Amino acid sequence: MTTAAMTTGSPPPAWSDGLLVCKQVHDVTADVRTFVFEPTEPRLFRHDPGQFLTLLLDIDGRPVERCYTLSSPPTRPDLAAITVKRVPAGLVSHWLHDHLTPGTTVRARGPLGQFSLARHPAPKYLFLSAGSGVTPMMSMTRTLYDLAHPVDVAFLHSARSFDDIIFRRELDFIAATAPHIRVVHVLDDRGEQLNTELLRETAPDFLEREVFTCGPAGYMEAVRRMLSTAGFDMARYHEESFTFDAPAVPEHHTGPGYKVEFTRSGRTIDCDPGTPILAAASRAGLTLPASCAQGMCGTCKTTLLAGSVDMQHNGGIRPREIANNKILLCCAKPLDHLVIDA
Ligand code: FES
Repeated sequence: MTTAAMTTGSPPPAWSDGLLVCKQVHDVTADVRTFVFEPTEPRLFRHDPGQFLTLLLDIDGRPVERCYTLSSPPTRPDLAAITVKRVPAGLVSHWLHDHLTPGTTVRARGPLGQFSLARHPAPKYLFLSAGSGVTPMMSMTRTLYDLAHPVDVAFLHSARSFDDIIFRRELDFIAATAPHIRVVHVLDDRGEQLNTELLRETAPDFLEREVFTCGPAGYMEAVRRMLSTAGFDMARYHEESFTFDAPAVPEHHTGPGYKVEFTRSGRTIDCDPGTPILAAASRAGLTLPASCAQGMCGTCKTTLLAGSVDMQHNGGIRPREIANNKILLCCAKPLDHLVIDA
């Protein structure tokens, strides 16, 4: 508990966008670590389970932003934790594992995101995750457990091997002490696979559940295919994944191309009407601040100085910002020639 909370008895205000100090680092598996943070001023983390923070880092003099789901639950609001897998060739994950030690201060933005059971209340959930996609599910599971909420959860988590199961001991403890939460580990090296038979075995009523999925793109695609083939109502399906590859560019372009002028860099690029501006910029070799590439984190927010766009975002921008000509480059497609303050 923070000093202010202990001495005044009144809860500190909510934390949002600012400095965090790393309080603790611990190994979860051989290549996964949890980093626990506290705000530098007395604040509480009020967030929905499943939301994420964007870390704003300076790595070798280069500003880098990355989204990480909070693995900690809002029921433990004095500290916030992220759980990060060291990814081969992953600039940020390597930096975090190698440099982020207790006492290090980082800047962060958030919490943000719509991927939360708080946004989709239901009596029964099916959580499907793979690898480090377990983190939002862990925040949601910890929340339900802490609140002794009698919501029925079937949680199937896929990992390469027994030793790679993130939060294995805690998940097993939760499953052993909360009868309404069932946890099944699906292990590659044992030849196990997430399929409809396993789903039916674990949760025969899976077609009636609200589904949350998080993992690599291929995993989520397979889950989508499996559920829709089984007749699942995809309106009750929610997924999230943070991938940091260059944004995808549609293969087939329609209609006339537009010019997009970036005033700060002095560059002008071509952008087809069906292509997000960020993707076109990336294709043209222009590096712009971005993180989730899904209209969620707000990292790519900038000002539209001229022209109009079609923007389908996922909560990363507020209505009043849109009214003030702000746009998210990752999910805005040109409807006109554009001039952008970037
Ligand atoms: Fe996250 Fe655009 S990169 S909203």
